[in-house]
Amino acid sequence: MALHESALEELGLAPMWVRRGGAHEAAAELAASDSDADVVANEAQPVEVASAVGVEAPVSHETQPPAGVSNAAREPLESREPVRAEATPADAPQARRAPPPAADEAPPFPDDDFAWFDDLPAAPPSDAEAKSNEPAQPGIDTLDWTALEARVSACERCRLCERRTNTVFGVGDREADWMLIGEAPGENEDKQGEPFVGQAGKLLDNMLRSLDLARGTNVYIANVIKCRPPGNRNPEPDEVARCEPYLQRQVALVKPKLIVALGRFAAQSLLKTEASISSLRGRVHEYEGVPVVVTYHPAYLLRSLGDKSKSWQDLCLARDTWRKAGAEGDAAK
Ligand code: URA
Repeated sequence: MALHESALEELGLAPMWVRRGGAHEAAAELAASDSDADVVANEAQPVEVASAVGVEAPVSHETQPPAGVSNAAREPLESREPVRAEATPADAPQARRAPPPAADEAPPFPDDDFAWFDDLPAAPPSDAEAKSNEPAQPGIDTLDWTALEARVSACERCRLCERRTNTVFGVGDREADWMLIGEAPGENEDKQGEPFVGQAGKLLDNMLRSLDLARGTNVYIANVIKCRPPGNRNPEPDEVARCEPYLQRQVALVKPKLIVALGRFAAQSLLKTEASISSLRGRVHEYEGVPVVVTYHPAYLLRSLGDKSKSWQDLCLARDTWRKAGAEGDAAK
């Protein structure tokens, strides 16, 4: 540790995180315990000073779905925003200092499910910035399927690339009329590289069957986010922004007649709104010029069987909208 950093640490002013370059070059001045990891897990901006107020309150595990259950299963909650609280001596978990590493030891890097790209801006780079920082690559909006899939699998546009096993690009009929869009890969999807492979995926297949559709037959399935957020946390807005060009390109290539947004997160991300899912259901919206119908996420339906009938209503609206779009398309020919 440089002399001035240890002096800062003495004063309690040392940064809680310092990360530049690749994972192995990462250095953390303060190691967080598991509970401390919760404290920072959803933080959108780095906390520069150990004693800073405004740290995340620990998320109560009583309100969380069991481990491995996607965030989407928490659909009925009106807000999944991280809970912020002023840190007070009584209720704020204290960041614990790790013993300084021996000179020949690798610096401690807390397993906090979260890594900061402190050298990247929160917003996606503009074209001009991108050109100056990256080797020239064709724009995402020009890629064909093969190039797009390759670009996604090599993507390092946000921190989610660090912990993924596989990117989850999308699956199904690339000329489908129906495009279903979920939130982000969960653990199983991350392992297998395919969207909706768990229990929620089975329910989704049944929902499709009820419409005489099947995964891969006139249906293409993708997610807003292509990499698994660690611990199934909510994707951050900058992660959505950095991933969106891939989804936009998928929509442009599939040219679906209809998009079904699965769950609140997908709906809000596509429609750029914070409106509740109940207010978004029952109407036809638009994304990239394509009609969008919003319904509950299958993971939520697994836990709230009573809402399956509402979801069926949504699917009927989707089918009517698809038929109408097909009829209009035929009339235009
Ligand atoms: N939930 C999603 O939203 N997408 C998946 O691929 C899996 C679970």
